[in-house]
Amino acid sequence: MSNKILTVKDLRVSFNTYAGEVKAVRGVDFELSPGETLCFVGESGCGKTVTAKALLRLLQPPFAVIKEGSQILFNGEDVLQMSKKRLQEYRGDDVSMIFQDPMTSLNPTMTCGKQIMEGLILHRNMTKAQAREAAIETLRLVKIPDPEKRVDNYPHQLSGGMRQRVMIAIALACQPKLLIADEPTTALDVTIQAQIIDLLRELKEKLGIAIILVTHDLGVVANFADRIQVMYAGQVVERGTAREIFYDSKHPYTWALLSSVPKLAKESKQELYSLHGTPPDLILPLEHCPFAARCEFCMPICKEQMPPETVLSDTHRLSCWLQHPDAPKVKSFYEREV
Ligand SMILES: Nc1ncnc2c1ncn2[C@@H]1O[C@H](COP(=O)(O)OP(=O)(O)OP(=O)(O)O)[C@@H](O)[C@H]1O
Ligand code: SF4
Ligand SMILES: [Mg+2]
Repeated sequence: MSNKILTVKDLRVSFNTYAGEVKAVRGVDFELSPGETLCFVGESGCGKTVTAKALLRLLQPPFAVIKEGSQILFNGEDVLQMSKKRLQEYRGDDVSMIFQDPMTSLNPTMTCGKQIMEGLILHRNMTKAQAREAAIETLRLVKIPDPEKRVDNYPHQLSGGMRQRVMIAIALACQPKLLIADEPTTALDVTIQAQIIDLLRELKEKLGIAIILVTHDLGVVANFADRIQVMYAGQVVERGTAREIFYDSKHPYTWALLSSVPKLAKESKQELYSLHGTPPDLILPLEHCPFAARCEFCMPICKEQMPPETVLSDTHRLSCWLQHPDAPKVKSFYEREV
């Protein structure tokens, strides 16, 4: 049996809208080992959240459909075939998710403690007293000062950073094997963002859980991700270890993301790059490189055929016609200077 905690193959998700079928996720593949951290990175609308929600079957049919042929295996078990009862255990016991905005995700009418206790009573069959003790311990784990007092606070009595810590506590209370964090720092200021990422890193080391971190900001994942997958228009266009993506990326879209990270642009003496244009309409069929309309290296073939995937190492793969042996050599993100 595979030792992967998660195996996703040819994941396709569509939304049935009045305007037509929005093909939001178009054949995403990836694997995750226990304790590993994978980051989904890409601009708004590229399918990060829809992919993450599909892993927990949180999309609402018939409006949102996981297409036939898609496969999601958790420790070898087929998530798309799970019964309602098994799915309820899976969400919380095995995998849990933190959403972007803690103010809308937390219940404003319940104390933080009660919100952590809910999962423990449901999934771990604890008594109220046991769950309260465990909730205090989890608040301590996520470094909330004075957890014995904070357990009785309502969300509005806490700062944004503290609320995000409570969200993490709720997600971790039942000791899942995989935590999915969808833009957990977007609503926070930069210093607090760094603290939350540090906390996630510490928790990963302490608890040995696997983490999928979703973000539009490559800067956030430096020093955190083991592996990164760069998404564009519902596809993974480049994937690699953090080192391969930060120091050896070969895809023009990844270069654009890298050059929009102020610190990296400064190190490589580049101008801060802003991506022009917009991603393609996901209702239309895409039979060529999805980045073609915005890519400064676009060649005629890029507008005619989908680039094949090039395998550069066991971990590093990308889809771009520039990898063709006959393609012109272009100056990469690392070679250009202003
Ligand atoms: N409820 C919906 N109805 C129709 N289309 C949707 C819906 N939700 C998502 N989509 C489509 O799926 C695409 C991917 O959405 P998704 O939320 O996964 O983007 P994202 O990468 O998480 O972006 P962001 O960084 O803004 O959170 C969107 O471009 C949109 O076209
Ligand atoms: S395939 Fe062509 S258009 Fe697409 S990223 Fe590569 S060079 Fe640019
Ligand atoms: Mg999103």
